[in-house]
Amino acid sequence: MPKQRGFTIWFTGLSGAGKTTLSNLVHHRLQEKGITNVEVLDGDIVRTHLSKGLGFTKEDRDTNIRRIGWVAQLLTKHNVPNIVAAISPYRNVRDEVRKMIEHAGGPGSFIEVFVNCPVEVCETRDVKGLYEKARKGEIKQFTGVNDPYEPPHNPEIRIDTDKCTAEEGAELILDYLKKHP
Ligand code: ADX
Repeated sequence: MPKQRGFTIWFTGLSGAGKTTLSNLVHHRLQEKGITNVEVLDGDIVRTHLSKGLGFTKEDRDTNIRRIGWVAQLLTKHNVPNIVAAISPYRNVRDEVRKMIEHAGGPGSFIEVFVNCPVEVCETRDVKGLYEKARKGEIKQFTGVNDPYEPPHNPEIRIDTDKCTAEEGAELILDYLKKHP
C-alpha cells in the first residue's frame, strides 16, 4: 500500500474571511480523491471541547493555538492529513506551531494558508452578527476591530476571498498539494 504522508493545512485569517468554508470544501475534495482519513480542527468547535473556558486575550488565544498545534502535529506524525481553521492572529505562535509540525512530519508538512479578506468585507458578511456586536462595544478584543491580526509574511498559499469563489480558493490548495506531493 502506498503510504499517505501526513500534513497540516493551516488556515489563518479574520472571522468571516472564509476559513471554515474553505476547510470544509478542501476536506470534501480530498475525500473525493480517496483521502478519507482527513481530520478537521475548527476554532469554533475546538473551543467547545479542547479549549473550553479559554477567552480571547493574547494569552488564551496563544494557548488555544498551541493546543490545536499539538493535536495537529500528532495527526501529522501518524500520517493523518489534517486541516486547521482558526483565526490564529499572532505570527510568533503560528511560527512556533510550524516548527512543531515540521519536526513531526518533516519539511513541507505545514502548509500555511492566509485567508485574506478586508475587514470591511468580513463585516458586511457578518455571518454570526459578531462584528455588529463588536462595533457596539458588546464584544471586547474582537479581531480586526479592536484586537490585532498579524498577517503571515511568507504563507505557502494566499487566497483573497473577496476576489475569488470558494471553489477557486479550494482549487488553489489542491493544485499546491499536487505540486508538492
Ligand atoms: S483564535 O484567535 O484563538 O485563533 P478561534 O479561531 O479559536 O480564535 O475562534 C474564533 C471564533 O470565536 C470566531 O470565529 C468567533 O465566532 C468567535 N469569537 C468570539 N469572540 C471573539 C473575539 N473577541 N475575537 C475573535 N473571535 C471571537
